[in-house]
Amino acid sequence: MRVVVLVSGSGSLLQALLDAVEDPNYPVRVVAVGADRTGTAGTERAERAGVPTFTCRLKDHSSRREWDRALAEECAAHQPDLVVSAGFMKLVGTDFLARFGGRYLNSHPALLPSFPGMRGVRDALEYGVRVTGCTLFVVDEGVDTGPILAQQAVEVLPDDDERTLHERIKAEERRTLVRTLERLAEHGWTVRGRKVSIGVTTN
Ligand code: GRF
Repeated sequence: MRVVVLVSGSGSLLQALLDAVEDPNYPVRVVAVGADRTGTAGTERAERAGVPTFTCRLKDHSSRREWDRALAEECAAHQPDLVVSAGFMKLVGTDFLARFGGRYLNSHPALLPSFPGMRGVRDALEYGVRVTGCTLFVVDEGVDTGPILAQQAVEVLPDDDERTLHERIKAEERRTLVRTLERLAEHGWTVRGRKVSIGVTTN
């Protein structure tokens, strides 16, 4: 299964995948890594692993729609079966989803549908939940509303601050991403009743 990974930051989720794909039996190939800004640690990790990278910055395009189309083109050039947002801090638009709908996944650091949005870890902490976690889901037109593929619970400890809690959640996000992509590559997945297999979508 060919996967393009999108990053904005440190890329530790990406690194977990880059480590997993070193095993020739792991059924996933990271064919490219894209970023919405230059000089991310994520793209540096990709370069060290010999994976092609691209950058698609909003400010280099005349509108958000043009940026969205360009991002879809950049991804499509690598012929991915799946695109994964691993800490990619931008919402994609309708043109991107028209091309990759059902095949664009995001990892979120909370148990959706609780605590969607950019502050998932902080919001869970401030609410006072005793258990939070991570969610890997298929991106749709909403914000963190798409079909859920996998979740993992993480206990909130009495001394946690946003950083310590996020680090423990990210450890689970890494495991969840690696395991779930293996399962998707082998068995496909279902999005609202439609079975998605590599290269094939059926009712
Ligand atoms: C993860 O918690 C992801 O869910 C969130 O950003 C973080 C990315 O971490 N959206 P990293 O850049 O892979 O270390």
